[in-house]
Amino acid sequence: MKTLIFNGSPRINGDTESLLKIVRENIVGEYKLVNAYRCHISPCMDCRFCWKEPGCVIQDEMQEVYDYIKECDNILIASPVYFSELTGKMLDVGSRLQTYFAAKFFRNEVPITKEKRGAVILVGGGDGRVEKAYETACKLLQYMNCKQVHPLVSSHNTNVQPAIEDAEALVGINSILKFFGKE
Ligand SMILES: Cc1cc2nc3c(=O)[nH]c(=O)nc-3n(C[C@H](O)[C@H](O)[C@H](O)COP(=O)(O)O)c2cc1C
Repeated sequence: MKTLIFNGSPRINGDTESLLKIVRENIVGEYKLVNAYRCHISPCMDCRFCWKEPGCVIQDEMQEVYDYIKECDNILIASPVYFSELTGKMLDVGSRLQTYFAAKFFRNEVPITKEKRGAVILVGGGDGRVEKAYETACKLLQYMNCKQVHPLVSSHNTNVQPAIEDAEALVGINSILKFFGKE
């Protein structure tokens, strides 16, 4: 079992990380972690190479991520909510999935054959709503061929209660782990 985990938070010991620690310690099989604020992945420049050719011209760490996306079984996007969206760096990384959209829309190709399970964890201080960020995360999962997506797990009161103390979020994390562990 292989799981790709995106961490959209800049905080080393923040709320997202505290929940991801539980995921990493309990996940079945191997995982690859992409930290949006620490990885060397540039945003899509809309050069439109992928309108005609598979892959992406930008030679950076995303090339390894593309390989892992092809072979993995599960994909988890975990991020804080900034201005009711995923964080900017998470969107930068996500923009590199445009090659998958182009494959289908412009080249009429199926870029990823293996179907995956997906899940989203969002944390927020408590302002506004998380729905927009969730919708964006689901769109990214869809680009990566996640056919089944676990219901959203969120902790949206972190200004008052750290995510790690949010009992409902912890139940949700457990449920994602079970969902990802299925053969
Ligand atoms: C620039 C910025 C924008 C934010 N926007 C929101 C928001 O729209 N809604 C919300 O609930 N929290 C918002 N927050 C709060 C964070 O989502 C919250 O502190 C979260 O727990 C941080 O997660 P982390 O510790 O994993 O980085 C924002 C924080 C920052 C720095």
